[in-house]
Amino acid sequence: MKIGILGAGNVGGTLGERWAKQGHQILFGVRNRTAIDLQVRLDRTGGNAQAGSMTEAAEFGEVVVLTVPWGAVEELLPSLGNLEGKILLDCTNPNFTGEPSQYHPISGGERVAELVPTAKVVKIFNTTGWENMADPQYGSEAITMFYAGDDDAAKAVAATLAAELGFDPVDAGSLSNSGLLEAIAQLWGKLAYAQKLGRGIAFKLLKRP
Ligand SMILES: NC(=O)c1ccc[n+]([C@@H]2O[C@H](COP(=O)([O-])OP(=O)(O)OC[C@H]3O[C@@H](n4cnc5c(N)ncnc54)[C@H](OP(=O)(O)O)[C@@H]3O)[C@@H](O)[C@H]2O)c1
Repeated sequence: MKIGILGAGNVGGTLGERWAKQGHQILFGVRNRTAIDLQVRLDRTGGNAQAGSMTEAAEFGEVVVLTVPWGAVEELLPSLGNLEGKILLDCTNPNFTGEPSQYHPISGGERVAELVPTAKVVKIFNTTGWENMADPQYGSEAITMFYAGDDDAAKAVAATLAAELGFDPVDAGSLSNSGLLEAIAQLWGKLAYAQKLGRGIAFKLLKRP
């Protein structure tokens, strides 16, 4: 699958590198194509990943993955051109630290959908740390990856991409539930930092057989 990743930092770089190693074609959208850490990452992907502009990555991907800081989203998304019909995976957390932006009237996922109304937005890969995206297995258990969206076909693609990384994908309903997923990210952050559990923690949904 052709995947355009907007950003090549902790989240975008980790997801893209892993999908590239599994045979997907990746185009990272970046601001600086010559950054050394980016070149090191590309060298590790066996030729399946390249870097270009944000617009090139958005054009390239059947799936486009949003992994920039929330503060960049309002300006970036409208600049990308026509995303009609594309699947947009929103990994952002607008209010990770629970600061006043939590009082934004709608969730980040819903705001992303407002900014790119012709794309099929799925909220996913926001509820755990990037280290867990590098390795979602805790012993024999796979971390739960909740996802939310309004297009069933897009959600099925998102779930498959999560399962390919080793997550246990769980459908959390419509995109209007994005705020719940963003709250899970806040809880993860509170546990990791305020409660000093560290970043080696993850959530697992248990189901009675
Ligand atoms: N870190 C986590 O564990 C984690 C987990 C779940 C979700 N998230 C969410 O995922 C998103 C990315 O987090 P991250 O930790 O991967 O961040 P990061 O390591 O700082 O990477 C951010 C990426 O976005 C690019 N970028 C920054 N500002 C930009 C701008 N104004 N315009 C265009 N590109 C810009 C950066 O490019 P440069 O290299 O040029 O600065 C970099 O490629 C955030 O929304 C975060 O809330 C993070």
